[in-house]
Formats: sequence, structure tokens, C-alpha cells
Amino acid sequence: MSFPSINPTQTTAWKQLAQLAKSPETLQQLFAEEPKRAAQFSISWQDFFVDYSKNHINTTVMDALLDLAKEVKLEQARAAYFVGAPINKTEERSVLHTALRANKQADIRVAGHNVVPEVYAVRQQIKDFCTSVIHGSLTGATGQPFTDVVNIGIGGSDLGPAMITEALAYYKNHLNVHFMSNVDGDHVMEVLKKVNPATTLFVVVSKTFSTQETLSNATTAKNWLVDALGESAVGKHFVAVSTNVTAIEAFGIDAKKVFPMNDWVGGRFSLWSAVGLSIALAVGPENFETLLDGAHQMDAHFAQTPLDQNIPVVLALLTVWYNSFLGAQSEAIIPYTQYLHRLPAYLQQGIMESNGKSVDRNGNHIGYQTGNIIWGEPGTNAQHAFFQLMHQGTKLIPAHFIGYVSPLHGNQAHHDKLMANFFAQTEALMNGKTEAQVREELIEKGMDKATLEALVPFKIFLGNKPSTTLLLDKLTPKSLGALVAMYEHKIFVEGIVWNIFSYDQWGVELGKQLANDILEDFTLTNIKHHDSSTSQLLERYKS
Ligand code: F6P
Repeated sequence: MSFPSINPTQTTAWKQLAQLAKSPETLQQLFAEEPKRAAQFSISWQDFFVDYSKNHINTTVMDALLDLAKEVKLEQARAAYFVGAPINKTEERSVLHTALRANKQADIRVAGHNVVPEVYAVRQQIKDFCTSVIHGSLTGATGQPFTDVVNIGIGGSDLGPAMITEALAYYKNHLNVHFMSNVDGDHVMEVLKKVNPATTLFVVVSKTFSTQETLSNATTAKNWLVDALGESAVGKHFVAVSTNVTAIEAFGIDAKKVFPMNDWVGGRFSLWSAVGLSIALAVGPENFETLLDGAHQMDAHFAQTPLDQNIPVVLALLTVWYNSFLGAQSEAIIPYTQYLHRLPAYLQQGIMESNGKSVDRNGNHIGYQTGNIIWGEPGTNAQHAFFQLMHQGTKLIPAHFIGYVSPLHGNQAHHDKLMANFFAQTEALMNGKTEAQVREELIEKGMDKATLEALVPFKIFLGNKPSTTLLLDKLTPKSLGALVAMYEHKIFVEGIVWNIFSYDQWGVELGKQLANDILEDFTLTNIKHHDSSTSQLLERYKS
């Protein structure tokens, strides 16, 4: 199936959008002019309610964005993505995280071979293994059941499992799951300090099984275990998730303890595969399956819904509008639940590693803005940290506010306060506070005229700051699966419009290469030639 590669700037819609961007109206004006705006720019799907009306759009802009999606042949690209066409061209791979949560009866082919039966075989393997660990029938070398799990991996082999495990902490069982990612030995030791070798299971996750950080950390953890329990304990305390069985066996983990993954799943999209083993251990395989089901529901929504009612499509087009036409550089993700505190970090990899590209699908250097900077923290903490800049700073920062109608622990008084802040912030960002309102407030406080005049300019909020509100019923494994899949498809749509390859990550290679070079320098008396700044720093480090 052919995959389009259309220069978006050559489309009629792009040219129209460039014109439209020159005559902005404020959000306050838009709301005043369009009484049905809130309903018109909202999408309700399952337990998601997405209100994108507080964005710098009107019907003309939305129509042009949707035309842009059609002109770049988004629907054709979407079909190729779901059937497993090798759309990751620079690595000659399919992109099939959607197959990991497809129905059992689905037939999704890679090189003529249906991958769904294998997916279900691994899902069963995860289920069986997790059940035996959780129930204590599988034990460590001393016969004691496991109490702790240490996930050793980095990037996609860490962020997804870590984010979901935290997000679903409410649903967790007795197993305590820890994450070891950084090659920083202090990080390693801090994790090991918390666990007992006799009751700890190590899950080494690396798609390639060649990542320096993961192999170093796994080796240190293995030595620590061997020191405590002897070499024979390794087989009972280490399992691995990878595509590279040979390297795992060389490391000392039995091939029978390997959970396979496939090269048609990118690391940052892999939490649905055996990479999610730590999730299934933490919350149980049933919840893991429900997470996958939620993602599958979102896949169906994305695959089948007309573009104007399609949540990932609409959100992606807004991002394109802000980045490529209105000059925004970033997007803030503000979840109003502490459970999602790792979501921004997870999305930083998902979005920035995918769409941080400057060469188009035809190999040409790009002259327009692509991938945006992702950042954020949970509300209300974020309000007391960086919201000052969002309210009164000079930057355009479109923000996603993610909140839930029901709390998990049922503490309604807390939840009402949390959600009052959630709604208040988007209202404040949009409406601001006028000079007249500021004056009135200060007069009411009885402030003298001179002090009042000096203070007024600093207390004005111009407003007109955009946000999108995602209001969901409840944080469940299912709704979380759908939320994460929503962002995955948003990434896809942005990549299609920007005409970039979203599924490779060549940009992370150079630093890895140079780090290996420099590591060699540490063993030499005279360091190799570097620029004068780097040489100076290396000399100082070695001295
Ligand atoms: O940082 C680059 C990267 O390749 C990511 O894309 C990936 O998630 C991470 O490294 C870890 O790779 P692996 O799972 O092969 O150890």
C-alpha cells in the first residue's frame, strides 16, 4: 500500500492557513461572536469529553486544517499504518503497536505473515508468568516468593512501564516495582538499597539488548545478586524482554526466560508488548489486558471516525496550526491527577523522539516548523511553579488540561478543590483580568490612589491563552489505554502532515557514538583530539 509523501507547504490549505494566521482574533472575541462555540468545538467519545473551543480557531481555520489533512492524504496514510505497510522507511519496518492490542481474530500481516497469533502467544506468556509471580508459586533461589520487581531499561524500555505503573498505582498488588534506567551508578545503588536479593525479580528490557545503560545496569545488578546468592541464582531472578535472544544468552539469561518483542514495534510505542511486563506484574495481567483493550478502542475510533470528529486528528491539527503557523514552540501537558505525574516525561520521548525531524519523507531539508517541545507537571503543583509564565509571560503555550470527574479514593472534598483549580485555570488563561477589573478590586480593598496606579499594570492578565480540556470519567486501565493511544495517533497525524518519518530516531545515535569514544579516552594517557572546550573539560575530569 503506497504511503504519501506530500510537501504540505505546496497544498492549497497550507497557503490558506498561512493567510488566516495573519488575522488572529482573540479567544474572548471568538466566544463573544460564536454562542455555540463550546459545543461546536467539542468531541464526546466513550468516557472522553474533549473541549477544544478555547483554542485560536474558528470554523474557517478548522475547515482549512481538515482540508490540509485531506490534501496530504492522511486517510490513505492511516490505512497503510494499520495494515502494517513498512511506513518506517529509513529502517524498513512496519509500525504495528496497534497489532499488539488488536482483536484475536484480526489478520495483520508483516511480509505476508499474520502477526496476531504471536501477539496473543506472548500475551498468554505474560499472563502465566505474572500469575505465578503474583501468587507466589514462582519463587526466587531461596524458595521465597518475590516481593519486588526491578525493571532495568531506558527510553521506551523504561518510560512507558514506569509511567503506567505510576498511573495505575491505585490498582496495584503487593509487588513493589522499581525502575532502574540511568547509567548513573548512584541511581543503580539507590534502587538496590531498597530491595532484598532473595525476593527481587529483575526484568531486563531492551529491544536491541545493546544499549549501554541497560547492559551496564543489568551487569551491576547481576553481580550484586551473585554476591548475595551465588551464580546459580541468576536464572531464577532474571528475565528479559528483547528481540535479541543471542545477546541475552550471552549475558547469562536462559532463552526460556525471554519474552520476545518484534522489530515492528518502536521502543517508545512498546509498552503494550512484553515491555509492559512490569506493568502486568504491578497491577495484574487482567488490568494489563484492560489497558490494551482501552488502547484498541481508541485505535478503532482513530481508524473509523470522520476526521472532524476524530480526537487524535483534531488534536494533531491544532498542534500543526500552533507550531507551523502561529509560532508556538511548545505544548504543555498538565494532568490534574498525581497518578499521571510521569505522563509529560513519557510523552516527551513519544512526541519529541518521533517528530523532532528536519528532513522530509523525500529526503529534503524542511523549511517549516515540525515537532514541538513537550513539558508539564501535574496540576495543582504546576500552578505554583511555572503557571506565572503561562498567564503573564510572552510565550504562546497551547496546553492540554487532563482531568477526571471521579477521584479513585472517593475523597470528594479534595477532588472538588482539585477540579475547581482545573476549570479555573483554563478560564483564567483565556479570559484574563482586565484593567477595569483590576482597578475595581484594588478600590474595593481600599488602596490609596498612588499605590493603586503603580500596581495596576502588573495585575492585568491579558488572557487569550489557549488550552484544550480533556475531561474523562475516571482513571481506569481502560481509559488510560485509550488516552495513551490517543497521543500515539496524534503523533502519527502530525508526522503525516509535516511529511516526516516519525518512527526512526537517528538523532540519538551521534551522542552515543561520541560517548563511547570518550569512554575510551578515559583509559588513555593522552586524550584523543577533540575541540578545545571538550578537551579542557576531559583533562579536568581526568586530573
Ligand atoms: O534513545 C534511543 C532509543 O533507541 C529509544 O528509542 C529506545 O526506546 C531506547 O533507546 C532504548 O533502546 P533499547 O530498548 O533497545 O535498549
